[in-house]
Amino acid sequence: MITRNTIDKVFEAARVEEVIGDFVQLKKSGSNYKGLSPFNNEKTPSFMVSPVKQIWKDFSSGKGGNAISFLMEHEHYTYPEAIKYLAKKYNIELEETEQSDEQKKLAGERESMYLVANFAKNYFHKNLLKTEPGKAIGLSYFRERGFTDHTIKKFELGYALDKWTAFTDAALDQGYQIKYLEKTGLTILKDIPEKTKNNYTDRFRGRVIFPIHSMSGRVLGFGGRILKSTAKTAKYINSPESDIYHKSKVLYGIFHAKKEIAKKDNCYLVEGYTDVISFNQTGIENVVASSGTALTPEQIRLIRRLTKNITVLFDGDAAGIRASLRGIDLILAEGMNVKTVLFPDGEDPDSFARKNSLESLEVFLEENARDFIRFKVSLLMEDAQNDPIKKAGLIRDIVATISKIPNPIQQEVYIQECARIMDISERVLFGELAQITKKEQRNLAEKKSASGIESLKVVKSKDTAFKKEDQLELLERKLVEILLLYGNYVVEFTDYIEVEDEDGIVKIEKQQYENTVANEIYLQLQDDEIEFSNPAFKTIYYDVIHQLNQEEKIIADALTNNENEAVRKVVTDILMDDEKYVLSDWGRKEIYVRPKDKSLPKLVTDAILNLRRILIELKIQELISEEKPEPVEEKISDNITETNQELHQADTQNNDEANRHETLELIMNYTGLKKLLYEKLDRVV
Ligand code: CTP
Ligand code: MN
Repeated sequence: MITRNTIDKVFEAARVEEVIGDFVQLKKSGSNYKGLSPFNNEKTPSFMVSPVKQIWKDFSSGKGGNAISFLMEHEHYTYPEAIKYLAKKYNIELEETEQSDEQKKLAGERESMYLVANFAKNYFHKNLLKTEPGKAIGLSYFRERGFTDHTIKKFELGYALDKWTAFTDAALDQGYQIKYLEKTGLTILKDIPEKTKNNYTDRFRGRVIFPIHSMSGRVLGFGGRILKSTAKTAKYINSPESDIYHKSKVLYGIFHAKKEIAKKDNCYLVEGYTDVISFNQTGIENVVASSGTALTPEQIRLIRRLTKNITVLFDGDAAGIRASLRGIDLILAEGMNVKTVLFPDGEDPDSFARKNSLESLEVFLEENARDFIRFKVSLLMEDAQNDPIKKAGLIRDIVATISKIPNPIQQEVYIQECARIMDISERVLFGELAQITKKEQRNLAEKKSASGIESLKVVKSKDTAFKKEDQLELLERKLVEILLLYGNYVVEFTDYIEVEDEDGIVKIEKQQYENTVANEIYLQLQDDEIEFSNPAFKTIYYDVIHQLNQEEKIIADALTNNENEAVRKVVTDILMDDEKYVLSDWGRKEIYVRPKDKSLPKLVTDAILNLRRILIELKIQELISEEKPEPVEEKISDNITETNQELHQADTQNNDEANRHETLELIMNYTGLKKLLYEKLDRVV
């Protein structure tokens, strides 16, 4: 367990904008920061961070909270993991009470897998640096490739001994369970080789090891490279897909690259582990590898959180260029700008970076970066020079690529340019583009109607629009919102009370008095013994009232850091709600006016009266349904009010006579109350 002291220090030190800034590119926007949502695929920013309030809100997904909850959402950390991460980030010493065996057992499955992966990383790394075979074989291999000690440490490179069970034995010895060794793929079960008497073997044997990190630096899996070029087995073997390692969502090097990608506003995309490492060693850090497989949309989005610009680097002799062109269409479809660099014949990013200084590498990249579509056109034009059939195919191919670009103006520019390069009329290309676009829209529409999404939506909104329970929820929320935002405001309230004059005639008299908003709400609700039905609202309500009694001010931190997720969410939603207008460029002043002190009393009174009204209506509804267990046919004309209609229905039922009478009387009373409330509402309106 982490001590309270450490947790307090972490909360003091952590700045939400700094924590989130490590994952999302944030731009200053007024007193806030904004950026692209890391939870959604979007092109205009709807993600907002408030340094003043120390909270964040993602308007596209509705998520929000403080620094800790961001890490929990984004990195899927548990609460203690998030605290640990922040303690490390802010150099706070982590005080921990010893974990008992029981607690160890309780730690989640995935957590156990992370622990195993982390142990393996350290184990392989130590093998490389401290064991004889590690030094003689692994380390000398890396040295031959020109990797410095600094690089080896930075990427936590390692060596797996050329033995059948060395790793697994060491892990079991340290108390790690075979279950998790197997789940992470580090140990292979059942496959009983003759060379060992055990029923397990290590996956990685006699290979140098490249740990694969998540964006936040946790080890998820490994790549292991064979050393002897004569070996018959694959050059690389990799950790299998597991609960912690999802290959389609990981990019090798992203942890070490993320800061530079955001800073340089560009990401170099290479193929392999060694390309990433050599670039880093030469001094270019904004580089990630797809690890030899086709790029996935998830991987592209990982990059797009940091920048909109990708430069794809191709080996000089890559027969695979043409094969990887398709994957690049995906990058365009994500609305990113793509450039390509082709390395000289026989060179790949790794070899080229090792041979060159930082300066000449930078110059080379700059001078050879070409717009992807132009690159594709000229590449394919070579193939199609004197072949009209091939050329026709090429045109379709290029236009299909252009159709992926979400921005129509950009599309047009490319069409014009391609027409020029390929010596074809623009009209033909635009015609082709229109055809492709139409076809895609048709496909999309078919998909939608097949899934029935659209029709479902309509029915749902119609059905629930006027449900009283929803209205109640809205009103309770409104009250919580008023309480949080204006609870400590002192304003003048107006009430109408019945007074008897000297002659005994009852008159309605206007009365005015000052009170804090919170006090007024509290007194009014207490009067009627009203409780919030939503548990999160209830918690917030009592917390705010308590705070105001104790401190005479509202400290939102206690709520944005509340252990209950629903509470955190409601509070951040409310505190950030007015910020969302900053996201659009319309100018928030025109569309959002903070209620002035003058309109505040009416806001409070209205909300309370409406809450009472809804509660009474719900009560009436409840009484009526008690009264008539079976639904009754509706035969009443439209202009009769809802309640009367319900009363009428109740009337048609004939049960226990006495009970029925009592209920009816109650209903009448409540209906009278309801009428009164409507009158009051009318008056304050
Ligand atoms: N790869 C893989 N499995 C293989 C071959 C390749 O997973 N059998 C992946 C690795 O991530 C590798 C990348 O594809 O880094 C690129 O492959 P390649 O260029 O062959 O490897 P390099 O990393 O460049 O290795 P080296 O330079 O040592 O040949
Ligand atoms: Mn290579």
